Amino acid sequence: MRACRGQDVPHTPVWFMRQAGRSLPEYRKIRAGVGMLESCRRPDLVTEITLQPVRRHNVDAAVLFSDIVVPLEAAGVDLDIVAGTGPVIAEPIRTAAGLDRLRPITADDVSFVAESVRQLVGELGGTPLIGFAGAPFTLASYLIEGGPSRTYTRTKAMMYGEPELWHALLGRLAEITLTFLRTQIDAGVSAVQLFDSWAGALSEADYREFVLPHSARVLGSLAGAGVPRIHFGVGTGVLLGAIGEAGADVVGVDWRTPLDRATTLIGPERPVQGNLDPAVLFAPWEVVEREARRVLEQGRAAPGHVFNLGHGVLPDTNPDMLTRLVELVHTASAR
Ligand code: CP3
Repeated sequence: MRACRGQDVPHTPVWFMRQAGRSLPEYRKIRAGVGMLESCRRPDLVTEITLQPVRRHNVDAAVLFSDIVVPLEAAGVDLDIVAGTGPVIAEPIRTAAGLDRLRPITADDVSFVAESVRQLVGELGGTPLIGFAGAPFTLASYLIEGGPSRTYTRTKAMMYGEPELWHALLGRLAEITLTFLRTQIDAGVSAVQLFDSWAGALSEADYREFVLPHSARVLGSLAGAGVPRIHFGVGTGVLLGAIGEAGADVVGVDWRTPLDRATTLIGPERPVQGNLDPAVLFAPWEVVEREARRVLEQGRAAPGHVFNLGHGVLPDTNPDMLTRLVELVHTASAR
């Protein structure tokens, strides 16, 4: 939390996106026979799965086990999370009538998330819990495409061809995201991360016109909530200046942009998070160590640095590499 605020820290803190999940045998065991969305709705499972990587790796933060599509299901969308694929939407939203099926949510619709957060805060002691949500663009891309996409053709077709419907959809998604994040904050999370994972598919001009205002509304509405707001996307090199303007306290950076270059783009006043290439963990340890030291060095250009990977832990990652990386970050950055 101190690094997110640009304050002095005893060492650079580290956590990993997707630190809970298939890289851990204890996760695969507890999830056996339980669907992904079902596991997100059970506070006992959410608590155990969230704690697994904290126990094993000694990371400096826990990240709530959930998914960006959990509030969409609560909003009435018929969807599933298919292993190896991701979210799949039964009836994609491509018309005004489709948008009507997406109703606003209340805290009661996601009460299981609040219950999970309360349990976790009790168990975690001093370790912060990071809550999260999907940003309006990334959620819209799943709703419009019906699943993962490489080209975002239908998403962009609506964006360019029916801008009014587009803005109505993103406005409603911003409301849903806000309620989901406020529920987590009210229940006790220490920080929140807004995932705009697929924003890197856009040009800067389109990002500014069609996406930034909606993400900025989510982040701006939480300005007084007292928790650091982290904002992350993949492939956002050319967008980093604009993403910084969306208003988060910390900008997450993928592995393509060195952190010192990112700080030049975002502005010198904002802490950064990232950005070791998750694939580097498949190289020999000497390479991992060299790359991690480079990330630490480049992170010094910003007023605060939260060490992370440039995207989520890949499922086949050797978890011992992650444990060793946490130890290295702590010792190599000790002040
Ligand atoms: O440890 C953590 O980071 C917290 C848990 C978390 C999950 N999803 C659990 C999960 C978080 C933060 C997410 C966010 C999420 N979900 C994002 C944004 C982060 C990112 O990766 O960019 C996105 C785009 C999604 C949508 C989604 N859900 C995808 C692309 C997938 C992967 C599909 C697959 O099987 O490869 C999911 C499923 C999912 N969410 C899993 C986990 C642990 C894997 C499902 C399983 O274990 O059965």
